[in-house]
Amino acid sequence: MASGHYILQASIALLCYLSWAAHAAQFEVVVGGLQFKPPTVVAAPGDTVLFVFKQGNHSATQSSFENPCVAALGGFDSGFMPVAEGTNVSFPASPLNVTTTEPVWVYCRQANHCQQGMVFAINPGNQFSAFQAAARSSSPSSSTKTVPSSHTSTATSSAVPRPAATSSDHTVVVGGPNRVFFSPSNITAQIGDTVTFQFQQKNHTVTQSTFAQPCVSLTESSTSGQIGFDSSFMPVADNATNFPTYTIQINDTSPLWAFCRQTNHCGAGMVFSVNAPELGPTTFEAFTARAKELNGTKKSSNAVSSASERTTITYRRNGRAGLSATVAAIILVLQFQAAAF
Ligand SMILES: *[C@@H]1O[C@H](CO)[C@@H](O)[C@H](O)[C@H]1NC(C)=O
Ligand SMILES: *[C@@H]1O[C@H](CO)[C@@H](O)[C@H](O)[C@H]1NC(C)=O
Ligand SMILES: *[C@@H]1O[C@H](CO)[C@@H](O)[C@H](O)[C@H]1NC(C)=O
Ligand SMILES: *[C@@H]1O[C@H](CO)[C@@H](O)[C@H](O)[C@H]1NC(C)=O
Ligand SMILES: *[C@@H]1O[C@H](CO)[C@@H](O)[C@H](O)[C@H]1NC(C)=O
Ligand SMILES: *[C@@H]1O[C@H](CO)[C@@H](O)[C@H](O)[C@H]1NC(C)=O
Ligand SMILES: *[C@@H]1O[C@H](CO)[C@@H](O)[C@H](O)[C@H]1NC(C)=O
Ligand SMILES: *[C@@H]1O[C@H](CO)[C@@H](O)[C@H](O)[C@H]1NC(C)=O
Repeated sequence: MASGHYILQASIALLCYLSWAAHAAQFEVVVGGLQFKPPTVVAAPGDTVLFVFKQGNHSATQSSFENPCVAALGGFDSGFMPVAEGTNVSFPASPLNVTTTEPVWVYCRQANHCQQGMVFAINPGNQFSAFQAAARSSSPSSSTKTVPSSHTSTATSSAVPRPAATSSDHTVVVGGPNRVFFSPSNITAQIGDTVTFQFQQKNHTVTQSTFAQPCVSLTESSTSGQIGFDSSFMPVADNATNFPTYTIQINDTSPLWAFCRQTNHCGAGMVFSVNAPELGPTTFEAFTARAKELNGTKKSSNAVSSASERTTITYRRNGRAGLSATVAAIILVLQFQAAAF
């Protein structure tokens, strides 16, 4: 009897996963030029909005409809993300997890950017122009006084790029017998340093990607024509003693993300970073987890349990979530029944 319930529960969890997987999405929002692009997105719980910061020194900070240019207490805040003028690759990014279907109001808390209409919203309905108009007419003092209470992202508040007095080279071994990883897999480097990848056994690459899409080359994912570095495939025979190398130069302190393009390697966690933040949502650990989640081979079996968890959370947060809420409710009931047996 109880096991029958478990089977039913498992299939409903799978159903939930399928419906969740079909909807979970990632929205990339470019922050720069005194605007958020696109200025609004329609997103569901479980989706992610990734703010990508371009030239200037901006933030993505949650506010409220009533006070568009004042940080909401305990709200999301990327922190300031200064991006130097010459930067054309690896822009810093900060992800925001969407947990509600209610509107989420966001602004840039730099100087008077908000008063110039630099605002953004998730699920604003038809209220966005009213929100932006309110931002334009809000008093400048209100934005500078308020310091947000929570910094959910400490990612790359890098100082103005300045070459280090002495530059050094960092050696990273790629692959080797039974080694499907970069060693070390994450490093800290100064401006002007070089990183030399030494390719050992098998057939690997080191290819620049982004935090948002760990296993897709920057060249491929960029919507603005950025060209990321790519060593190309470096096949190395089992008995080799001479190893080919590929060197990159570090031009700024913003994080660099990379992966191996060989089939299944990235999804197995063969990723690499330079200057990944030690704290916040964009650590090297989070990058690795993201690679495995998006390109791993075992994702369906793991995802079922976490998806049913997520759907339950969706139900708690939003009573109007329709079918998935109903299904989540059934799961809750079944969990009670299973517990009773
Ligand atoms: C966002 O969601 C991911 C995966 O669901 C989680 O690992 C991460 O900690 C969350 N980030 C924040 C800031 O809540
Ligand atoms: C970015 O802006 C903040 C707030 O105005 C400021 O404190 C910080 O020094 C700026 N960073 C850079 C590198 O200009
Ligand atoms: C990872 O998955 C994405 C989306 O399915 C795909 O476009 C990309 O080619 C995959 N990357 C690798 C290295 O297989
Ligand atoms: C990026 O900038 C560097 C130097 O500032 C330049 O040499 C390179 O061509 C630029 N790359 C792209 C894709 O614009
Ligand atoms: C290395 O891997 C690539 C991609 O899988 C493949 O096209 C190439 O033939 C391989 N080279 C050798 C020598 O095995
Ligand atoms: C490696 O093995 C191949 C074939 O097994 C042989 O032709 C080659 O000479 C060997 N190379 C070295 C460096 O021992
Ligand atoms: C650093 O700048 C040099 C010269 O412009 C460029 O060739 C190189 O690709 C840049 N490094 C990275 C990691 O983008
Ligand atoms: C980052 O590199 C350091 C030094 O190699 C290593 O100790 C640490 O485990 C790495 N972090 C992760 C998350 O793999």
